[in-house]
Amino acid sequence: MRQINPFIISSEYISQEYFCDRTFETKVLVDNILNGRNSVLISIRRMGKSGLINHCFNQKVISDNFNTFFIDLYSTSSLSEMVTLMGREIVDSLKGKGEKMLDKFVSTVKSLVTGITIDPVTGQPALNISIGNIQQPEQTLQEIFEYLETSGKPCVVAIDEFQQASEYPEGNIIALLRTYVQKCKQTQFIFAGSKRRMMDKLFNNPSEPFYMSCANLFLEAIDRDEYFKFAAAHFNKAGKSISAECFYRMYDALEGHTWFIQRLLNEMYATMGEGDTADINLLNAAMQHILKLDKRSYEETLQRLTSPQKQLLIAIAKEIKAKEITSSGFVHRHGLKSASSVQNAANTLYENEMITREGDEYFVTNRFLGFWLKERYDIGFKF
Ligand SMILES: Nc1ncnc2c1ncn2[C@@H]1O[C@H](COP(=O)(O)OP(=O)(O)O)[C@@H](O)[C@H]1O
Ligand SMILES: [Mg+2]
Repeated sequence: MRQINPFIISSEYISQEYFCDRTFETKVLVDNILNGRNSVLISIRRMGKSGLINHCFNQKVISDNFNTFFIDLYSTSSLSEMVTLMGREIVDSLKGKGEKMLDKFVSTVKSLVTGITIDPVTGQPALNISIGNIQQPEQTLQEIFEYLETSGKPCVVAIDEFQQASEYPEGNIIALLRTYVQKCKQTQFIFAGSKRRMMDKLFNNPSEPFYMSCANLFLEAIDRDEYFKFAAAHFNKAGKSISAECFYRMYDALEGHTWFIQRLLNEMYATMGEGDTADINLLNAAMQHILKLDKRSYEETLQRLTSPQKQLLIAIAKEIKAKEITSSGFVHRHGLKSASSVQNAANTLYENEMITREGDEYFVTNRFLGFWLKERYDIGFKF
């Protein structure tokens, strides 16, 4: 069999073998599930939330005893869409489980019956329903919760990018969800999200419906030494190697931000032959190659910004981690217009997730875009 590149960069979870560490976080989430606690999982985008959830679902104690569902609300903008996704995920999970299970679903979630089709060749069910056909999404939601509670095995439902639900036009969906979640006896939830300010507000603000209802887990970077061991082992397996200097310099420059590290490891691994060692030179070559490939998309991103937004983004990229961006020091240093125009631009960039805030520091969310901006508008970029 052809060897796959062991550094996975899709959001798909392959197996334990390609998943680095997260022993502690996995234990926390699994324990929460086993002890009837709902969880909130927060981290910046691309740090590994979805991967961690899938990794937990893949643990024997969970997969043997629970039905698990994963719903990503990232691209949804209404309750109808959310309900459709939930219905589809559940119907998908019923594949290969026999008619009885499907009958159970059909008799509980009555409002989706018309959308269920059976593939004439495989005999497997699918949910083919267009959003517009969901007449009463609140009714369907209620039925789905009823199904979860009575489907036989206890269920775990992970809702990724949960903060999205607070922006639906149907009104207070969060409060509605809270009432259903609260009633559940054999269904556990994991609410994940990357908009930290919003997730914090939803779960840790006394005036919000979900206040104090879940156990918090903030996902930080994978441990530096564990990540090096993981990378080195995969290189070694293919008769290749990576120098500690190369790995740690990359890890530190990216502050352990998982996807970006995976992308570079994947790139270096791909270009190396047996007996080769990944060193700083190869790392810089890999980075330059990726920046070249992505140049067009970066240029298009910049074109969509207003001039103050673009200038602020460049200013933040130049400093890598930018503090006090509305101070006169920052404004003058980068030739920006004024504190208030910086504030406006920062709000929009933050809303669009172009920049991320951690503590009192901002950085360009797409770390590679940040490097590219440094390369183009500043002194260049090298690890
Ligand atoms: N523990 C891990 N080991 C190896 N790769 C990981 C790990 N966690 C995440 N990844 C990879 O990093 C990338 C981003 O992870 P993802 O779970 O999609 O992040 P998030 O959901 O926080 O945005 C994916 O390509 C994923 O395969
Ligand atoms: Mg995710």
